[in-house]
Amino acid sequence: MNALTKGISPFYPGQPVPAELFVGRQAEIDKIARAVSQVELGKPQALFLTGEYGIGKSSLAGFMRFYAEKENHLFGIHVLLGGATTIEDVAVKTVEAVLKTPAYEPTLMEKARSVLSKYVGKQELFGIQINLEALRADGPSISHGYLPFLRQLLERFKDEEIKGIMLILDEINGITANSTFAHFIKGLVDENALSATPLPLLLMLSGVEERRREMIQHHQPVERIFDIVEINPMTESEMKVFFNKAFQSQNVTVNEDAMSLLCHYSAGFPKIMHIVGDATFWIDQDGIVDKDDALKGIFLAAEDIGRKFVDQQVLKALRSKDYHSIMEKMSKLPFDLSFQKTDLEKGLSDSEKKKYNNFLQRMKKLNVLRSGDVTGEYIFNSRLVRLYILLNSIKKDVSK
Ligand SMILES: Nc1ncnc2c1ncn2[C@@H]1O[C@H](COP(=O)(O)OP(=O)(O)OP(=O)(O)O)[C@@H](O)[C@H]1O
Ligand SMILES: [Mg+2]
Repeated sequence: MNALTKGISPFYPGQPVPAELFVGRQAEIDKIARAVSQVELGKPQALFLTGEYGIGKSSLAGFMRFYAEKENHLFGIHVLLGGATTIEDVAVKTVEAVLKTPAYEPTLMEKARSVLSKYVGKQELFGIQINLEALRADGPSISHGYLPFLRQLLERFKDEEIKGIMLILDEINGITANSTFAHFIKGLVDENALSATPLPLLLMLSGVEERRREMIQHHQPVERIFDIVEINPMTESEMKVFFNKAFQSQNVTVNEDAMSLLCHYSAGFPKIMHIVGDATFWIDQDGIVDKDDALKGIFLAAEDIGRKFVDQQVLKALRSKDYHSIMEKMSKLPFDLSFQKTDLEKGLSDSEKKKYNNFLQRMKKLNVLRSGDVTGEYIFNSRLVRLYILLNSIKKDVSK
């Protein structure tokens, strides 16, 4: 099977995963589904979806939007707030999301567009064009009347048996720095709760824990409004289901030893699973992923991750010959993000021991590691760098 006869890659390294390939997350799904059905019954809910970078927040949010629309008749709006810095930006991006993201039900889309026809430019072959000038001019008034705006949308859907709205505010990295955002969110929740007939609204924010903390720092009461849904790394069996499902969708099978390599090096981290899977998919030539394919795929994935996610300075240091064997031994230690200095030291040779302190200091200076609360504890600041080191240890096996 060469590149020309292969189908499309079933891996999505840089995008939220499509619903057919979504795996795992049952506990989180259950928790969100409970909130969804409360909203369907008329009771507003607020959730904060949290977890590390690349752990699968946007994917889960997107999956639950699909679920809420199909099972519980909520109209979903998934707003990507990247680049937004003001509340007016939030308003503008919300309207854009309503107009641009296709609802699973086309008639809903038509109705939503009819409420917002003022902002619809000319119809284009691929979707619609938004009249940004008109929309931006109205940004301030939409932001002041954000809840009435959502209410008006829902009213339009009365005949469609739509029971409420699921509003996902995603990619909040930039906007949380603005203190008015925390006040805006708290205001939205309170205004709704206090109104005579609260809008059945599922408000879901999605972001890393630091962003939630940042909002709390700006406005303490934010701490009390959200139920938290935390996403953790995937289990081995979830990873297996994922790799099997993805490869099988293109009629590729995975040998057992190849599977354990793919799982070991992905370490439960969806972003890596997709990068590793994609590289392996293109390497395989015969429709059967064997150990050799997996090793080569992981090797290539390591290079890719280094290039994309590791700072140049750090990369240079990590590639230094002096540190190689130390990092290789580090890869054999089963730890998540933090390790004890002495645990690694135990396995080092005398010459490695001499370089060990220097290694730790250098990594601290480059912000790769920081000291933990316990003496002698070191913690990786970025999981991707930690995983890059793990993935790199495969090099020796491949060149064998
Ligand atoms: N449940 C899942 N099943 C399969 N693949 C997944 C799942 N969740 C996430 N992924 C994949 O993992 C990668 C990261 O997912 P996603 O973008 O949803 O994470 P995120 O937490 O929103 O990341 P960021 O912090 O960068 O916004 C993507 O390639 C996505 O396709
Ligand atoms: Mg995301």
